[in-house]
Amino acid sequence: MGMSVTISAATEEDVEQIFRLQYLCFQSEAALYGNYRIDPLVQSLDSVREEVVTDCVQVARLGEEVVGSVRGRVNEDGAAAIGKLCVHPRLQGHGIGARLLRAAESALADQRGAKRFRLHTGHRSEGNLGLYRRVGYETVGTVRGADGVPMIILEKAAGAYAATA
Ligand SMILES: CC(C)(COP(=O)(O)OP(=O)(O)OC[C@H]1O[C@@H](n2cnc3c(N)ncnc32)[C@H](O)[C@@H]1OP(=O)(O)O)[C@@H](O)C(=O)NCCC(=O)NCCS
Repeated sequence: MGMSVTISAATEEDVEQIFRLQYLCFQSEAALYGNYRIDPLVQSLDSVREEVVTDCVQVARLGEEVVGSVRGRVNEDGAAAIGKLCVHPRLQGHGIGARLLRAAESALADQRGAKRFRLHTGHRSEGNLGLYRRVGYETVGTVRGADGVPMIILEKAAGAYAATA
């Protein structure tokens, strides 16, 4: 089709597309855990809007279509929590997820002074864990999410970019 995917900061006009995209993308995670109440599936449109306004939200675009998204927010300890990374199922496996992650890390470090990046994923999500480790994240602990799913927490220092990232 000849169009390329670009990454940029989300605007309020993207809110509905991000909302619909995460609902679609996280079905596979819900199926993996047999839990359809996971946060990305029950988050309201207003809550997504609030995140777009206050947090660092990046989107991947193919023309007018939002085909990927990620969010991040810097906590008091200087670590940025990155979450809800998702890419449209038809475009997965082409490096867009890794590009989104890099864009979120750069924006969080450059614009919001993040010193570390932290993210979490379900303990059974091997693909996600592989992607995060490849771009330099290391496991620092585990936690049980509000939805009951055991999660693995990973971190990386700002500036600690893996050679393959
Ligand atoms: C997790 C997710 C965002 C990854 O997005 P993605 O665009 O497929 O990610 P990437 O393409 O960067 O990496 C995924 C795989 O594609 C491979 N890949 C990366 N670049 C590639 C390229 N140019 N060509 C072919 N394959 C490539 C990677 O090696 C990786 O393989 P792996 O599964 O063995 O690690 C996506 O799968 C998704 O939306 N999942 C559902 C929601 C979810 O679980 N989100 C994470 C919550 S913690």
